[in-house]
Amino acid sequence: MSNPRVFAVDLGTTKTVAISAVLNDQGHVKVESVASFPCTGMVKGQVRDKDAVAVSIDRALGRVEAEVKERAENVVVAVGGKGVTSQRKQAFVPIVPAGRVVRRQDVHQVLGHSRQVRIAENCELLLAAPAEYRIDGNRVHGQPVGHNASRLEVTTNLVMAERQDILAIKEVIAAGGRHAETIVPEALAAGLGVVNTEASEATAIVVDIGGSVTNVAVFEGGNVCHLGTAPVGAWHVTNDVAQLLRIEFAEAERLKTSHGCAVAASIGPDDVVQVVQSDGASRPMQRRVLAEIVESRMKEIASLALAIVADAELESWPRTGIVLCGGGSLLPGTEELFSRATDGRKARTAHPRVAGGHTRDLGVPQMATVVGLAKHALAGHDEEFVPVSAQTGWQDTVRSLKSLFGAR
Ligand SMILES: Nc1ncnc2c1ncn2[C@@H]1O[C@H](COP(=O)(O)OP(=O)(O)OP(=O)(O)O)[C@@H](O)[C@H]1O
Ligand SMILES: [Mg+2]
Repeated sequence: MSNPRVFAVDLGTTKTVAISAVLNDQGHVKVESVASFPCTGMVKGQVRDKDAVAVSIDRALGRVEAEVKERAENVVVAVGGKGVTSQRKQAFVPIVPAGRVVRRQDVHQVLGHSRQVRIAENCELLLAAPAEYRIDGNRVHGQPVGHNASRLEVTTNLVMAERQDILAIKEVIAAGGRHAETIVPEALAAGLGVVNTEASEATAIVVDIGGSVTNVAVFEGGNVCHLGTAPVGAWHVTNDVAQLLRIEFAEAERLKTSHGCAVAASIGPDDVVQVVQSDGASRPMQRRVLAEIVESRMKEIASLALAIVADAELESWPRTGIVLCGGGSLLPGTEELFSRATDGRKARTAHPRVAGGHTRDLGVPQMATVVGLAKHALAGHDEEFVPVSAQTGWQDTVRSLKSLFGAR
C-alpha cells in the first residue's frame, strides 16, 4: 500500500498556501504539489474575512487537488493569534512494585493525569505534548520507557485555543466542502517546519516573523516546551516606513524588501536609495534612514519574542540557538539583530527542507508553517497516539513530538 497523502493549508496574513505531501521511503516529507494564493482575509492568526479566505483556500487547494487528482476531504490547518494560550501541568504516577521497568501504560497514565485541567468555557484543548519526563526526580533525556523507576513524573505542555477561532477555521475549510481534520497551533507548525532532525538541533528556539504576528516555539530535548505569539510582524515594519516617510504602503513594501536592513550601523552614509513619494516624484534618501526605521521595529519584535522565551524557563537557554523563519526573517541583518539581543547566541534564518521537486517554492522561510503542518500530520500516521479520558475527536490525543524529529 502506498503511503498516505496529507493536505496542509497555511492561512497566513499575506497568503494562503496549500500542499499535498507523503512520507517517502526514507521517512522524509515529500511534497507532491504546492499552490499559493495572495489573501488578506486573515489577521493575526484569526479569520477576519471568511469569504476571502474561503475563496483563497479553494484556489490554492483546488490547484493542488487537480495536480494530484484527489479531492482533499481532510485538511490539516493552523490556528494562531491571541486566543491561543499554553500552560504547563505536572503529574506523577507511582511505579509499583518500586524499581520495576517503566512501561508504555505508565506513560499513558501519567500523561492522562497531566491533562486533567479545567479548560475555560470558551476554549478547547488543541494539544497536550509532553515537555519533560522525570524518573525518581531526575530528568530523563528521551523516552522514559525501559528505565527502572519508583516514580514517573511528566510536565505536559497544554495548548488551548478559543472555540470561536477554531470554529471560524473549520467554517472556511467547510465552505469548500472539506473537513479541518487536524488543527495545529501555528507557532508549533512553523517550528516543526524548520527544526532539524539532528539531536543538537532538537533544542532550539524558533521565531517565525510573519506578516502580522511573530510566533515563537521553544523545543528542548526534542519536545516542544513552550509556544507563544507576539502581535507584531513584518507588516508593521512596512507600515512604519510608510508612515514615517509619508509614502504609499506599496512603495514602503518595495523599499523594505529591496533595500531594508535590520542593522542600521552596517549601512554607510553614502548609500542612497530613490524613494517614490505620494505625488509620484522620486527623491534620494540615505539608505541608513530606512534601516533605522526597520531596525527600531525589528528590535521590538526581538524583545517581544525573547520575553516569550523567558516564560519557558528554559534549562538549556545558555546553549540554545535561535532559528528564524517567516518572511520577516529575510530582512538582511535580522540574524545579527537577534544574535545581539541574546548576548551573541547563534541566530540563523532557516529554510524548510523537503523531498520532491518543489524545493524552490518551499525552501524559503515563509513556507515553514505549511511544511510543518504536513510534517505534523504525516508523523501522526505512524506514530503512537495516546487516547486519554472520555473525550473524543482530534483534540483527544497526546502526541509524543519526539518522533516528529525523525520524520523529515
Ligand atoms: N525579501 C524580503 N525582505 C523583507 N521582508 C520580506 C521579504 N519577503 C517577504 N517579506 C515580508 O514578510 C512578510 C510576510 O511573511 P510571511 O509570508 O511569513 O507571513 P504570513 O505567513 O502570510 O503571515 P502570518 O504568519 O503573520 O499570518 C511580509 O510583511 C513581507 O513584507
Ligand atoms: Mg505565517
